[in-house]
Amino acid sequence: GRAALRVSLTPLPRETFLPRSSEQDTRLAAAGEIGQALLELIKPPEIYSRLASSIYQLHPSVSTVYISLFDPRRKRLFCVHLEHEHTALDASLVPDIHLADAQKNLQAEVMLSGQAQVVDDLQAIYPLAHRNPLYKTPGKPPRSVVYLPMISKGVKIGLVQIHSPLPGRFNQTDTALFGLVTNTAAIALHNAQLAQDLEHTSLDLAQTYEATIEGWTRALELRDFTTERHTQRVVTITIELSKKLGLDGRDLLRVRRGAQLHDIGKMGIPDQILLKPGPLDDSEWRIMRRHPVYAYELLRPIPHFNEILEIPYCHHEKWDGSGYPRRLRGEEIPLSARIFSVVDVWDALSSNRPYRAAWPANQVIDYIDYQSNKQFEPEVT
Ligand code: C2E
Ligand code: SIN
Ligand code: SIN
Ligand code: FE
Repeated sequence: GRAALRVSLTPLPRETFLPRSSEQDTRLAAAGEIGQALLELIKPPEIYSRLASSIYQLHPSVSTVYISLFDPRRKRLFCVHLEHEHTALDASLVPDIHLADAQKNLQAEVMLSGQAQVVDDLQAIYPLAHRNPLYKTPGKPPRSVVYLPMISKGVKIGLVQIHSPLPGRFNQTDTALFGLVTNTAAIALHNAQLAQDLEHTSLDLAQTYEATIEGWTRALELRDFTTERHTQRVVTITIELSKKLGLDGRDLLRVRRGAQLHDIGKMGIPDQILLKPGPLDDSEWRIMRRHPVYAYELLRPIPHFNEILEIPYCHHEKWDGSGYPRRLRGEEIPLSARIFSVVDVWDALSSNRPYRAAWPANQVIDYIDYQSNKQFEPEVT
């Protein structure tokens, strides 16, 4: 049961991670700790207030948080938690939203589509918003708003709505971090609902982690240029290559999960670097090279995730020892990461990036050949 969440699985040595260097590191580590805590809660009201306070913790400009649950039978959203400037207000005063109103209502549209929405200035698109009971809280009317669906294992659980009284407050990083904790809360709530329902048992540990990984992958896709199809392609090829190299069973499962979350650390990279249309300068590179460390910081607080850290933490190490973050060399690099790094580079070069167009296939192959015994382990290439 839940106690197993605390079992610690061979963590990497302490000295291997670098000291935290920026606000970004702290936010990502906080998201990991929040995720861990959310997965341990079983009473919905605790999950609501923990989720609301973690959203405040992740962003100083948040004024108001609405949490609504979805009733699939009546096809409506009803508010269960409303918090304004850290004070709980009466959620029952917030009107229900019917999915049939998707034309008029962003909330209904987000619930229907399952896609998050960010509004930079609500007043610009909806001047009378402050009179709408869905946005009517004390204090200044909302300008920036994020709407996030709560989804667990494909089941629509509800919706979170986040306000700031200032326009343009929430960028893609903020949205992705909110998505991370929101999706984790969705899994916790799903579990709580299943536990109440006598005909079902709650998700087991493996299902809970599977759902968490799916939720975090979706949150990552909220800001990266990566698409689900794209992540899936990398995962599939990594698995095929791992089988050819003799991995099986539990190792393959770990490879799958690690590959799925390989760039989760990019959540800690500011948009102006991650999405920069040209080459990075030295200081930008110093930050970019921390993304494997950010992944480590995020996943480390969650015991069961220790075993899938290898790829997120080590996928930029190079066979000749010139990689990052630890300059590991040869077989010091975990096998899963040695395999994955070839697929990652093949895939990156074959795809358009904000900083360059895709390379033709033969050029990609030539490059991988050329890097054999330099960047990559020869047997893997
Ligand atoms: P990514 O775009 O997913 O690339 C993953 C890895 O594929 C890179 O790791 C590198 O080993 C290889 N790769 C990708 N594009 C190229 C390329 O044009 N030429 C060569 N020779 N190799 C390539 P790396 O270099 O450690 O970069 C890690 C991440 O840093 C990249 O992930 C990307 O998000 C970012 N990045 C790298 N270069 C640039 C850049 O010039 N501008 C911007 N905005 N971001 C960059
Ligand atoms: C999605 O399912 O595509 C979005 C989920 C989210 O907002 O995190
Ligand atoms: C794809 O081909 O899977 C999408 C390309 C990309 O996301 O860069
Ligand atoms: Fe990476």
